[in-house]
Amino acid sequence: MSRNPIIAGNWKMHKTPEESIKLANEIKRNTFKIEDVDIVLCPPFTSLTDVKDVIQDTNILLGAQNMSWKTEGAFTGEISSLMLKSAGCAYIIIGHSERRAYFGETNELVNKKLKTALTEGLLPIMCVGETLKEREAQKTFDVVSEHVHKGLAGIEGQDIIKVVIAYEPVWAIGTGKTATKEQAEEVHAFIRENLAKKYNSEIAEKVRIQYGGSVKPANIEELIKEKDIDGALVGGASLDAASFVEIIKGANKCYTPS
Ligand code: PGA
Repeated sequence: MSRNPIIAGNWKMHKTPEESIKLANEIKRNTFKIEDVDIVLCPPFTSLTDVKDVIQDTNILLGAQNMSWKTEGAFTGEISSLMLKSAGCAYIIIGHSERRAYFGETNELVNKKLKTALTEGLLPIMCVGETLKEREAQKTFDVVSEHVHKGLAGIEGQDIIKVVIAYEPVWAIGTGKTATKEQAEEVHAFIRENLAKKYNSEIAEKVRIQYGGSVKPANIEELIKEKDIDGALVGGASLDAASFVEIIKGANKCYTPS
């Protein structure tokens, strides 16, 4: 079964609308020949519609970094799925570790957001992953399993195949310390086994699992060659067009459609 790779750039709280237009244009100019990799740009909310205009009629897709689990109402400061869809988003990042760590997002909230996204027609990228303390205490598999099972509670088989799971060990995010390909593959395979148990192996084989945490041009190829690594969620290296494009090209080079 071949899952085509998905490379998403999480710009986090970087780039004004003007800077976003420039970056998106540079990425667009250098990726127009790439057809087998799903490319997703996740700029800040204030740049979504500008980036949408830049990437229209290309194979690049738009994503947002967060959304409310509520669909409408008196929720000051929140952004709904309907607003994101109308701004051109296809994808939505849910439960990023920075949201869990700094904004108190729990597995229960992640699950609510996931359900809203699926009901409202956005494709979720659900982030899971352990902290350094948890890894050192040999709790990686417990934490990841809890993130996966609680995050996906009540999600049916026909919906899970729309979800991308991003394994992002917190200790590797923004630190320059990438998990080795063996460390990453071990957890990706574990996630897929969990999906096979929760759903079935046919469904588990269809779900794309991205790796995230200090992905750069120098390590994308070895990571993506691993059996259960289907792409990357890229932070820092996605803010520079040249390095993000190299990552996309690296993923493209290693992919052979079956
Ligand atoms: P990084 O961030 O590539 O800068 O480590 C990844 C992420 O947080 O998604």
